[in-house]
Amino acid sequence: MRFPTYRARRLREHDVLRQMVQETRLAPQDFIYPLFVTPGRGVREEISSMPGNYHLSVDQVEEEVREVADLGIPAVLLFGLPETKDAVGREAYSPSGVIQQASQAIKKAAPSLMVVTDVCLCEYTDHGHCGVVEGNRIVNDLTLDLLCRTALSHVEAGADMVAPSDMMDGRVGAIRETLDAKGHVSVPIMAYAAKYASSFYGPFREAADSTPQFGDRRSYQMNPANAREALREVRLDIEEGADIVMVKPALAYLDVIYQVRQMTDLPVAAYNVSGEFAMIKAAARMGWLDEMPAILEALVGIKRAGADIILTYSAKEVVPHL
Ligand code: PBG
Repeated sequence: MRFPTYRARRLREHDVLRQMVQETRLAPQDFIYPLFVTPGRGVREEISSMPGNYHLSVDQVEEEVREVADLGIPAVLLFGLPETKDAVGREAYSPSGVIQQASQAIKKAAPSLMVVTDVCLCEYTDHGHCGVVEGNRIVNDLTLDLLCRTALSHVEAGADMVAPSDMMDGRVGAIRETLDAKGHVSVPIMAYAAKYASSFYGPFREAADSTPQFGDRRSYQMNPANAREALREVRLDIEEGADIVMVKPALAYLDVIYQVRQMTDLPVAAYNVSGEFAMIKAAARMGWLDEMPAILEALVGIKRAGADIILTYSAKEVVPHL
């Protein structure tokens, strides 16, 4: 079928038809909205590099999650800023830690909302790495026990799903075993399966105060140049019992999202990370981009690439535009 018999523009001529033939649609149900929980009361401080996102104390989280649930967004992802940091990230697995308190509070304030917790040590360790440090090495197997304790304490506090983001080998299997042994057989694990050592985490590290104090994360997070390795990581996490596999970041890794979507029938999540969010915000503030259309285009692209679930700081602001 060639011009002039076929005219591709026929399907683009009218609004209604254009919408009828639209292949990918965003919906509030696609999103998980990240929150940064901080100690104290009455705290609501905007994160300067992430406009519209806040450091929230538990009481403020309660207000926030009611709004999130009212918008039809099904889930939040919790990150915590502890009172104190130490070498082994004790507050990550303390029953009275901020995430444990927030998980409990959210289940009361907005019972329909899924509470997903980020399981990692970097916000809780004084060295800012995601695992136990010996000399200048990040020790894999010693870290697993701490991650398991963290995940279990989140679930005991009411978390509905845990999301390990540390990139230690074997952590999905270890967490699955720990949860099962305590009877939490139906709590799913969303694994940050292909997580890259990315420059696009910059604003997050300010928000979560989790910048490594020495070195970088390249001995555990993936090399941005590798896609086959991502498939290997995803395969391993699936074998270990992951229920949802995540690719992170999203926009510079759409090919990885696409390939992961082809290789597994599990749900695929993609994390539209802080730097990707901040780039659009900054350009819009400079008057260089039309903000909302740019955000929607980025998100629909992530979904078109194959993501079933999108973790995004834009979730709240985009819902009214869908
Ligand atoms: C913790 C973690 C990070 C992000 C999510 N979980 C930071 C990192 O790995 O340095 C990044 C999220 C974002 O940039 O939006 N390990």
